Amino acid sequence: MPDSPLALPSITAALGPLAARFDVDVVEQCDSTNTLLLGRTDAPSGSVVVAGRQTAGRGRMGRAWIADAGASLTFSLLWRLPRGASPSGLSLAAGVAVAEALQGLGVDGIALKWPNDILRGGKKLAGILVELAGSAAVIGIGLNLRLPQGLPPEVSRGAAALDRELDRNAVLAALLAALHGVLAQFGTGGFVALRDRWQALNAYAGAPVRVIGEFSVPVEGICIGADVDGALLLETAVCVQRILAGDVSLRPA
Ligand code: BTN
Repeated sequence: MPDSPLALPSITAALGPLAARFDVDVVEQCDSTNTLLLGRTDAPSGSVVVAGRQTAGRGRMGRAWIADAGASLTFSLLWRLPRGASPSGLSLAAGVAVAEALQGLGVDGIALKWPNDILRGGKKLAGILVELAGSAAVIGIGLNLRLPQGLPPEVSRGAAALDRELDRNAVLAALLAALHGVLAQFGTGGFVALRDRWQALNAYAGAPVRVIGEFSVPVEGICIGADVDGALLLETAVCVQRILAGDVSLRPA
């Protein structure tokens, strides 16, 4: 079980020369690392807050991110895109970084579920919440090291954890290093520069799926993958439909 405490010297050592590109703040507890960084938008690009525990962790679509103290790696990265760069597809790009970093650590069964869930063995291992504030993007990532106690059964059925001996400082460093590379590519080439890598990780490629919008009727079709800007392409009975990030969640039909 990955029980090593968060420690800045260990994170810095694991980052090696890349440590100079990040400004990491380790906090024992906060409400939400995203909220904390959103209050520091004048902070330099590469600012990171990692928390041992969040008291009000937030997920997409107003949901909560629930984790027991120490059972989840919860952190946010503030990143500034080059002037004029579009943030479309940024959360998918971040998913590519997380997925590839986990594969690099030897974690098996990793795939991506549009828009930005990281699955292990078909169940949710990690989630990403990207929030924009002016020229800054705050990229929040929650990764289950162990499953929280007392999760509602409908949530725990669909949840996965790393459940293996990995130093959380090394995992954080690997994720930050991967994000550094992916975000540099995203900054110059946009999501399209990473699209093939996203497609290769798409859990539902070619599969029949149902997309449930927050306020719209469900749509069913074949999951073609992500468009050049990160929109989901769904082949329905009548056309290829573009589904925009943030509006929907995806479920096997
Ligand atoms: C989702 O799957 O809905 C996204 C979950 C994102 C959770 C992370 S934990 C670190 C950061 N701080 C937050 O409050 N949320 C993100």
